Amino acid sequence: MNVLVTGGAGYIGSHAVRRLLAGGHGVAVLDNLCRGHRAAVPEGVPLIEVDLRQTDLVRAALVEHKIECVMHFAALAYVGESVNEPLTYYDNNTGGTVSLLRAMDAEGVNRLVFSSTCATYGEPESMPIVETMPQKPINPYGWSKLFVERVLIDYAAANKDFAYAALRYFNVAGSASDGSIGEDHEPETHIIPVLLNVALGKVPKVTVFGDNYDTPDGTCVRDYIHVEDLVDAHVVVMDALKPGDQRHYNLGIGQGRSVKELIDAAREVTGHAITADQGPRRAGDPPMLYANADKIKNELGWSAKITDIKQTIETAWGWFKANPDGYGDG
Ligand SMILES: NC(=O)c1ccc[n+]([C@@H]2O[C@H](COP(=O)([O-])OP(=O)(O)OC[C@H]3O[C@@H](n4cnc5c(N)ncnc54)[C@H](O)[C@@H]3O)[C@@H](O)[C@H]2O)c1
Repeated sequence: MNVLVTGGAGYIGSHAVRRLLAGGHGVAVLDNLCRGHRAAVPEGVPLIEVDLRQTDLVRAALVEHKIECVMHFAALAYVGESVNEPLTYYDNNTGGTVSLLRAMDAEGVNRLVFSSTCATYGEPESMPIVETMPQKPINPYGWSKLFVERVLIDYAAANKDFAYAALRYFNVAGSASDGSIGEDHEPETHIIPVLLNVALGKVPKVTVFGDNYDTPDGTCVRDYIHVEDLVDAHVVVMDALKPGDQRHYNLGIGQGRSVKELIDAAREVTGHAITADQGPRRAGDPPMLYANADKIKNELGWSAKITDIKQTIETAWGWFKANPDGYGDG
C-alpha cells in the first residue's frame, strides 16, 4: 500500500516509516519540520515539506504519491505549551487534521490511522483505562486530539467509504533496536530521555515531582510502550481497516511503572549514578495512568512484545550514547 506518513520526520513517525518500508509499502513523508528532523527520514523516501494546513499542497502530495492510506502523526505535543498557547494547538492539531481530511476527501483517499492519546481521558476515576471510559481532557493538548476524534466520527457518518482508527497512545518510549533513529525533542520533557541525558552528563539531575501519591512507592505510575511495538500496531490496524470502520484502541502494555522504578532501571542499564531530586507534585499529574489494551488484542491479535522496562531503556540508551546531540540540528 502507498502510505503518507504525516510527522514522519518526528520521533514516532520516523519509526513508522522504517516499519512500513520493511513491510514492502510505498512511503512518502509529509512534515513541515517545525519539530522534526530531516535526517530522520531515510534516503530515498520523499520528504514533502508542507504544513498540514496547506490543503492544496497536501492534495497534490496525495495525488503525486498515489496515496491509499494516511498515518497521521503530525501534531504539537507539549501539554505545558498547549496551556500557554491553546489557539496554536487547536489550529495546528485540530485545524491541521480538518485540512488533511479535506485533502483526503477531495482526492478520494479513505483510510486514516490517527495518533490520539491517553490525554483524552483526563483523570479517570479507576484503572486500568478501557476505551469506553469517559474522555474528559484536562488540557488543550488533550482537547485538540479529542476534537479530532469527534471530527472523525462525524466525517465517517457522512462518507461511508471512509475508514479510520484513532489510536490512544500511552507513554511511548525506546528507540529503533538497531540504534539508527531515536528520540530528539527540544525541549525534552519525556522522563526516559531526561534520565539518559542525566546519565550522559548533559543535565545535572532529574526532579521527581511528588513522592507521596497513593501508589506502591509514592511516585507516579505510567504505562510505557516501546515505539517499535507501537508502530507495529499501526500496520496491523491499517491492514485491518475496511470501508466504514471506526476503530478506537488504547495502545499500551497494560502495566504501570513508577518513576522510582524507571530511575532504578536507568541506573542499572547505563551504569551511571543518576542524581534525582525530590520536587513538589505538578498540577494535573494523575497518580496512575495505565491501559487496558485487551480490545486490540482481542479484535486484531496485537499486543506489545516488550514489557520489560529495562529492555525499552536499553534501546533508548543505544541511541543516546551513539548520538548525544540527537540529530545534531537543534
Ligand atoms: N510521544 C508520546 O509519548 C506520545 C503519546 C501520545 C500521543 N502522541 C502523539 O503521537 C504523535 C507523534 O508524536 P512524537 O512524539 O513523534 O512527536 P514529534 O514532535 O517528534 O513529531 C511530530 C512531527 O509532526 C510535525 N508537525 C507538527 N505539526 C505539523 C504540521 N502542522 N504540518 C506538518 N508537520 C507537522 C513535526 O515537525 C514533527 O516532525 C503526535 O500526534 C502526538 O500527539 C505521542
